[in-house]
Amino acid sequence: MVNTKFLTFNNGEKMPVIGIGTWQASDEEIETAIDAALEAGYRHIDTAPVYGNEKAIGRVLKRWLDAGKVKREELFIVTKLPPISNRPHEVEPTIKKSLEDLQLDYVDLYLVHTPFTININEDGSFKLDKDGLMEVDVTTDHAATWVAMEALVEKGLTKSIGVSNFSKDQVARLLKNCKIRPANNQIEHHVYLQQRDLVDFCKSENVTVTAYSPLGSKGIAKFNADKGIVRDLPDLMDIPEVKEIAATHGKTPAQVLLRWIIDTGVSAIPKSTNPARLKQNLNLFDFELTAEEVAKLSSLDKNIRICDFAFFHGVERHPEFTFKNQYTS
Ligand SMILES: NC(=O)c1ccc[n+]([C@@H]2O[C@H](COP(=O)([O-])OP(=O)(O)OC[C@H]3O[C@@H](n4cnc5c(N)ncnc54)[C@H](OP(=O)(O)O)[C@@H]3O)[C@@H](O)[C@H]2O)c1
Repeated sequence: MVNTKFLTFNNGEKMPVIGIGTWQASDEEIETAIDAALEAGYRHIDTAPVYGNEKAIGRVLKRWLDAGKVKREELFIVTKLPPISNRPHEVEPTIKKSLEDLQLDYVDLYLVHTPFTININEDGSFKLDKDGLMEVDVTTDHAATWVAMEALVEKGLTKSIGVSNFSKDQVARLLKNCKIRPANNQIEHHVYLQQRDLVDFCKSENVTVTAYSPLGSKGIAKFNADKGIVRDLPDLMDIPEVKEIAATHGKTPAQVLLRWIIDTGVSAIPKSTNPARLKQNLNLFDFELTAEEVAKLSSLDKNIRICDFAFFHGVERHPEFTFKNQYTS
């Protein structure tokens, strides 16, 4: 079974509505997971240099492509310009490094990972100030970086370009200054953080939206704890209304959460390294949510941001960091 439902970009390119997320997975886990995902029918893979696993993903892609089990044009590969490289002169060398690691000639979608920029030392470690906070680069200029992003399309290094974690205002500013319109904004989006204003604005401007952490990013608790952050986070799969709707359809809470996202015209990239669960996350089209169920799920919004980037200690001091002002738990 191949996932055949797509969102169409403003440039005509098509993105499968369900992709596999790859954050917080070791090389070994992700190699097995990508293999299982391709077998299950996933063709959309979301990664980023920040996740540290592009080489492992590249090894699996090469095996599948060399064996003729999949054609390059059937795949939809997304990667991102990291926050440490969010400067015009770093755009081309950074995508080239991703392409080398992924063993590809082009990606399908290249995203500016965050609207903010962080400084690093020559050895690649984060630059910290005297208080131990991350040094932010306040010279971030989205319009200038976007010109370099546009050049990547012209050079054939990516089919489409977009952004991630951009607010409505940041997308609007980009739209005013661009030659190539962003095709996609990848944002946190789930029943507890619906960001309706932003989603509706993007849709009205023909910028597709991808939902990250669509299942509530269970693994983030440990990731945060390792960085000294303790936060009580909700379990979206344990919400009574979600469980009740799941039971009605004989599906899992995860499948209901994902189907709701797709029914609202947004794509989703759930991460799983478990073969049974990643199969489950793709198996979303043998049931339908009723209009009442969609309305019930849409009424659950609590403005709770789960992936708040607090693990980048001090990043909220960057002038383009907007999360705290708009959506906070
Ligand atoms: N652009 C950005 O700034 C940004 C930020 C965050 C994430 N992302 C992208 O979005 C992807 C998804 O977000 P996420 O990883 O934060 O969280 P998520 O997909 O919401 O949740 C992943 C967690 O849910 C578990 N899970 C997956 N399927 C399940 C199922 N059917 N039933 C029960 N548990 C299930 C996974 O465990 P198992 O693996 O054990 O199944 C994992 O612990 C990331 O991997 C990344 O590619 C992008």
